[in-house]
Amino acid sequence: MENKQTMIEVQDLCKSFHKLEVLKHISTNFYKNEVVSIIGPSGGGKSTFLRCLNLLEKPTSGKIIFDGTDICDKRQNKNIDLHRQKMGMVFQQFNLFNNMDVMRNLTVAPMRIKKMPKDEAESKAIELLKKVGLADRVSAYPSQLSGGQKQRIAIVRSLMMDPEVMLFDEPTSALDPEMIGEVLDVMKALAADGMTMIVVTHEMRFAREVAARTIFLADGKIEEDKPSHELFDNPESPRLVSFLQKVL
Ligand SMILES: Nc1ncnc2c1ncn2[C@@H]1O[C@H](COP(=O)(O)OP(=O)(O)OP(=O)(O)O)[C@@H](O)[C@H]1O
Ligand SMILES: [Mg+2]
Repeated sequence: MENKQTMIEVQDLCKSFHKLEVLKHISTNFYKNEVVSIIGPSGGGKSTFLRCLNLLEKPTSGKIIFDGTDICDKRQNKNIDLHRQKMGMVFQQFNLFNNMDVMRNLTVAPMRIKKMPKDEAESKAIELLKKVGLADRVSAYPSQLSGGQKQRIAIVRSLMMDPEVMLFDEPTSALDPEMIGEVLDVMKALAADGMTMIVVTHEMRFAREVAARTIFLADGKIEEDKPSHELFDNPESPRLVSFLQKVL
């Protein structure tokens, strides 16, 4: 823990939608190679927080310092696309292009945005597909894939851009139970490879076993932010205690 390198520093982040305050003075740091889970009740602001991190939502106030740059600073606006490229995002709904086969889904962004040559993009796609056990589905269309396969492809699509950090928003909650394991296994392998990951999840076992740290976000505030085993074994705030009673 000595040489922790800060990747994202969140300072006093607030987000309102008109009069509704959704995020209330959030401050925390994310470190390189760290896996952090975010848990909490529905409507507490978890998705909004992730969406602020990659500027899909514009924070109302506060700072998000990513690789040393405050990405909320208006003078950085021209770099927003560059910051986003460094952050992979995986949603509950896979958002694959239904009119494109797997290979095209994977290669279109690196070729267009990063100007990666086609052969390089395709060999990278094959290499990553092998890692998630889907090299044989390279010509399939999304409609021919199961939910678990689609989500693994969506993860590969993010990895194609070589992100510095991956943000996951309930990546398994749209899946049939028997497919959750295959997606969590891919995420575990990514974590073991040293990927920096911020994971909003309902999978308490994943949070406890894979994420070194867990943040409990409720009513727009960080109620607890500590090593996962401590948070789960020794919850302090009454809200966390009652939340865990409901979900465990
Ligand atoms: N674009 C928006 N406009 C207005 N209100 C919004 C918008 N997005 C989110 N909200 C509100 O912000 C609050 C937090 O929503 P958010 O989706 O961040 O919660 P969550 O913790 O991800 O919940 P869940 O576990 O159900 O996914 C909710 O009250 C929601 O209705
Ligand atoms: Mg959400």
